[in-house]
Amino acid sequence: MKDINQFTLTEAVKASFKTEEGSRFKFLLEGFIDHLHDYTREVNMTHEEWMGILMFLYDCGQISTPERHEFILLSDVLGLSALVDMINSRGGATEGSNLGPFYLDNAPKLELGGDLAKDRDGATILVHGVVRDSLGNPLAGALVDTWQADGAGTYPIQEQASGQDKYDLRGLITTNDNGEYWYTTVLPKSYTVPYDGPVGRLLRAGDRHAWRAAHLHYIVRAKGYRAITTELFFENTEYIDNDAVFGVRKSLIAKLEPVKKTDTLPATEKKPDAKCRFDFILAPEG
Ligand code: BEZ
Ligand code: FE
Repeated sequence: MKDINQFTLTEAVKASFKTEEGSRFKFLLEGFIDHLHDYTREVNMTHEEWMGILMFLYDCGQISTPERHEFILLSDVLGLSALVDMINSRGGATEGSNLGPFYLDNAPKLELGGDLAKDRDGATILVHGVVRDSLGNPLAGALVDTWQADGAGTYPIQEQASGQDKYDLRGLITTNDNGEYWYTTVLPKSYTVPYDGPVGRLLRAGDRHAWRAAHLHYIVRAKGYRAITTELFFENTEYIDNDAVFGVRKSLIAKLEPVKKTDTLPATEKKPDAKCRFDFILAPEG
């Protein structure tokens, strides 16, 4: 230990942890230490800079609550959440994208053709498609769990103080025998991620905006298949090319088309103004 210097330190720190040989934990921890030390040497970190980073992380902790996860937001705006989504997407299956902070378990059941929007302002859109396996076979009884912001870009869960039900604009749909799902909802608007905290300061420091492209959230599950968490975006909408959390993928952009009188559409409770089709593809478990 006496001869320790900035180059031998890294090995000494790794060796100080008694971790199981060949374990995933050892692999993750040692890689983290290696890269963190390499980065620190590479940028020739000063004391002031390192303290600035630590105070930034401290601020992220201070502002975090069970409802506000500033570290997840940090991971989002740094593209790390997107990177983990990309690494874990399976070839042949629908690409994954952000879960975001507004998911709730136990969304209310929505019948095929039902309406999620109730009396909310905004354009009514029909969202429809088929859940398939990677060979193209339709998956009957698959669960399409969806949640979204309203036509003003707000999630009802953010407006509970004004009496909104946090389960509004959420629904759990079961595909029919042909693997089909369809429902109507309000076209969501783009909205900003929270930017009144340290992550907002980071965005401003880098002259970045906090807007997300308008989207619908989904978790799609079927027995024997890997569940996918993803988002659906709309062609030619604002922020589609510079979503604040890097959630947009080409394969997740759907075309929103006005409904024509001549269209043959599945039966819905509410008449849609526009329609978009999106098929989900699930890869087998394992
Ligand atoms: C969302 O899509 O709901 C979201 C994602 C990341 C940060 C904030 C919100
Ligand atoms: Fe969202």
